[in-house]
Amino acid sequence: MRLLTILGSTGSIGTQALDVVRRHADRFRIVGLSAAGMNQELLVGQIREFLPPTVAIADEEAARDIEAKLGPVRGVEFIVGPDAAERLAAETEADIVLNALVGSAGLAPTLAALQAGKTVALANKESLVVGGELVMDLVKGEPERLRPVDSEHAALAAALRGERREDVKRVVITASGGPFRGWTRSELARASVKEALAHPVWQMGPKITIDSATLMNKGLEVIEAHYLFDLDYSQIHVLIHPESLVHALVEFRDGSLRAEMASADMRLPIQLALGWPERLPSTVAPVPLTDRPLTFEPVDREAFPAVDLAYRVGGLGLTFPAVMNAANEVAVMAFLEGKIPLTRIVEIVQTVVDEHEPASIVSAVTIERADRWARQRAAEIIDER
Ligand SMILES: NC(=O)c1ccc[n+]([C@@H]2O[C@H](COP(=O)([O-])OP(=O)(O)OC[C@H]3O[C@@H](n4cnc5c(N)ncnc54)[C@H](OP(=O)(O)O)[C@@H]3O)[C@@H](O)[C@H]2O)c1
Repeated sequence: MRLLTILGSTGSIGTQALDVVRRHADRFRIVGLSAAGMNQELLVGQIREFLPPTVAIADEEAARDIEAKLGPVRGVEFIVGPDAAERLAAETEADIVLNALVGSAGLAPTLAALQAGKTVALANKESLVVGGELVMDLVKGEPERLRPVDSEHAALAAALRGERREDVKRVVITASGGPFRGWTRSELARASVKEALAHPVWQMGPKITIDSATLMNKGLEVIEAHYLFDLDYSQIHVLIHPESLVHALVEFRDGSLRAEMASADMRLPIQLALGWPERLPSTVAPVPLTDRPLTFEPVDREAFPAVDLAYRVGGLGLTFPAVMNAANEVAVMAFLEGKIPLTRIVEIVQTVVDEHEPASIVSAVTIERADRWARQRAAEIIDER
């Protein structure tokens, strides 16, 4: 029986993780749930069903409403406030903390869980983009304590199992291409919020869905792969694969290529991360091999400049990735609020990155400062227009 805490239990990954727990109730017991507090009925239902000893809620007013809606339930304690997820990650008796928070707010809970000796199943890719060096420092010599949930990285971890690092020549992570595959830059400038939220393959939270429409998501994943698998950026490649069945490929120095395939269902990488090293049975549909051909194409780098920007920022290192991520979070929100066109997102991120004067070392303090500066600068640029 593994004791499990889920940060972001009301989100897309969080709810799917609870599906996995329902199916494997003999394997996992929920000891902590956390959310911002925006989906109150859902969280109340989760608390009643899983009876976690501790629940963390970021928003204080929402926490009061949730406690009132819940009524008297014995044995459930609340942690409330902006740092509630971080405290939950450190304090509860979990074996595994699944971090399914969205954005750079996920970094502190990832660090807290690892510092407390827990294993982290990481969906929150922003933790690695923003604080890759800090996170990887905490799992030096025990890489199994950090398990990727992102489908491409879960696929890479599986494909690299038992292989010698020096035999790996390069890796390829795939992208479906999102809703705007084949669109030109001028067409993209007119894309609506509704069109951008209509991802052809994955049902995800709004932030990652917009990141998938600009391909910033793939840029973030390149940086994530760099840290997770200690790969040079020149060894990490991106290909568009609209069928979304091959999630990653590893090419070895003898020329052989290993593709890791699965139907597009996040419950599989979630369950792999929670059950590791075991492969538990699942209801995920088998890969349809004869339905349609598998195709791969290069990224249109002119229409989708986010990928090249991420390679550049990753190569620069220091506080640049934190700045790229923070500016992107602000610009994505502005797009969702109808303040800027889709193509402005990456332009704004680029401008903020170009203006950034990096700190000479990476620490929690310098990352925090860079993140704050980038958010403010991105907001100013948005307001100027
Ligand atoms: N969705 C996918 O298929 C997918 C695939 C690969 C990777 N990922 C990564 O997984 C992470 C989660 O994505 P998602 O799509 O599941 O996001 P989502 O649906 O937007 O869910 C986010 C969750 O985090 C909670 N939350 C947000 N801000 C918080 C805060 N400050 N403190 C505490 N809780 C907070 C939300 O609570 P409320 O409900 O109360 O707002 C919600 O439970 C992201 O990093 C994403 O890139 C997602």
